[in-house]
Amino acid sequence: KQTNFIAPSILAADFTRLGEEVDNVLRDGADIIHFDVMDNHYVPNLTIGPLVCEALRNHGVSAPIDVHLMVKPVNRIIPDFIKAGASYITFHPEASEHIDRTLSMIQEESCKAGLVFNPATPLHILENVMDKLDMILLMSVNPGFGGQSFIPHTLEKCRKVRKLIDASGKNIRLEIDGGVKIDNIREVAKAGADTFVAGSAIFSTDDYKKTIDAMRVELTK
Ligand code: DX5
Ligand code: ZN
Repeated sequence: KQTNFIAPSILAADFTRLGEEVDNVLRDGADIIHFDVMDNHYVPNLTIGPLVCEALRNHGVSAPIDVHLMVKPVNRIIPDFIKAGASYITFHPEASEHIDRTLSMIQEESCKAGLVFNPATPLHILENVMDKLDMILLMSVNPGFGGQSFIPHTLEKCRKVRKLIDASGKNIRLEIDGGVKIDNIREVAKAGADTFVAGSAIFSTDDYKKTIDAMRVELTK
């Protein structure tokens, strides 16, 4: 298993002070920045695009940016995010006509690629793409909004994916997104995840360091 990454989702940050929010959360111990892209088509919400990713890079953010595309169709926006400085790009398989080709598009530009599975999306696609993945992202809420409750059935799915990753012998990150908090992060880690997205659990608190430290303490238990 790889080292644990705490990935604050900037969806829950104060957008009027985004650069400062990202600097603060990195100073306070975040490992990567989770960047939620919603298109008001694949999901019923509209957020941020490549310009904002590029603005964060120009602001001086050097940490990995983990771009979660909730966009359909997905291919057209990928080159823009690569240019804008994305480190990881993950997409939902149902948003791509040709999953293998989309993964190649991302990796050919030396960006890391991953697939995202909604709570009800079956995992069978993984059978044919394990050798092309850098990350598997399991949604523990239905995509579209922050602040929803963790769907417990994700833990079972997470255990399954952990077994597949271990059997593949590859370095594939296993990320969980939605409703992750101090009081359930340990359970999520025990199910095999190594990358933890947390939006409201971090940004709704006054002291990000205290929250991230508390999450790390849970992860060492
Ligand atoms: C939901 C997004 C999540 C969201 C998580 O569609 O993909 O990344 O921001 O927010 P919390 O941690 O508040 O559930
Ligand atoms: Zn996300």
